[in-house]
Amino acid sequence: STPAPVITIDGPTASGKGTVAHRVAKALGWAVLDSGALYRLTALAALNRGVDAADEPAVARVAETLDVRFDGPHVYLEGADVGHEIRREEVGNFASRVAAFPGVRQALLERQRAFRLAPGLVADGRDMGTVVFPDASLKVFLVADVVARAERRRKQLIEKGISANLDDLLRDMRERDARDTQRATAPLAPAADAHVLDSSNLTIAETVQAILDFWQAIPR
Ligand code: CDP
Ligand code: CDP
Repeated sequence: STPAPVITIDGPTASGKGTVAHRVAKALGWAVLDSGALYRLTALAALNRGVDAADEPAVARVAETLDVRFDGPHVYLEGADVGHEIRREEVGNFASRVAAFPGVRQALLERQRAFRLAPGLVADGRDMGTVVFPDASLKVFLVADVVARAERRRKQLIEKGISANLDDLLRDMRERDARDTQRATAPLAPAADAHVLDSSNLTIAETVQAILDFWQAIPR
């Protein structure tokens, strides 16, 4: 039987991937994979176990033995709800370091592919279209200029009651972009057959509609 259809949404941090992926999935009645959460969960589990971030074999073992469960908006690590904890900046930074290890990426590969179930999956991350689902029906590479992304992130933080300096956010974002695009394994890059969509001047609703239009335009 043919595998379930997949729409991949890759792109840099704060380009809107997560928000847009959830809305596209809702519109189609499909499931969603937040692949970044798996890297964050690996990082949190390693931090909890006191594993050294530079010890690749040890972090890869953590990824191989990760005990996680996704249930709607909830994420459980070894039975504990860690939905908020994995969003911490420290966890995100650790995640972007361990995501450069080939052993970690390999350990998470089949786990990500297991999310592909009927009627379909919207997967967001950095390498969904290039490595994890190279045969996806539709690949989107979502970009936005770094100032727009830093402003979005600042607004997000302010809504959570956290004050943030735009220059600090810009610096962190450029560092994260450099680390994601320059790593040797699965660097952030559009697949050859991806639609590059610039959302710098698009609302969330316009971005979602553009992706649904791409999907409708595919002959079936
Ligand atoms: O919130 P942000 O976009 O910064 O991060 P995320 O999507 O939650 O992912 C956390 C980290 O995992 C990123 O910095 C990426 O380096 C890494 N990641 C990856 O390497 N491959 C993926 N498919 C998803 C995330
Ligand atoms: O998943 P990723 O890190 O790519 O981004 P996100 O967390 O989905 O989006 C970052 C922020 O940008 C959220 O607060 C979104 O509401 C906002 N956003 C926006 O203002 N305009 C868009 N076209 C897309 C996202």
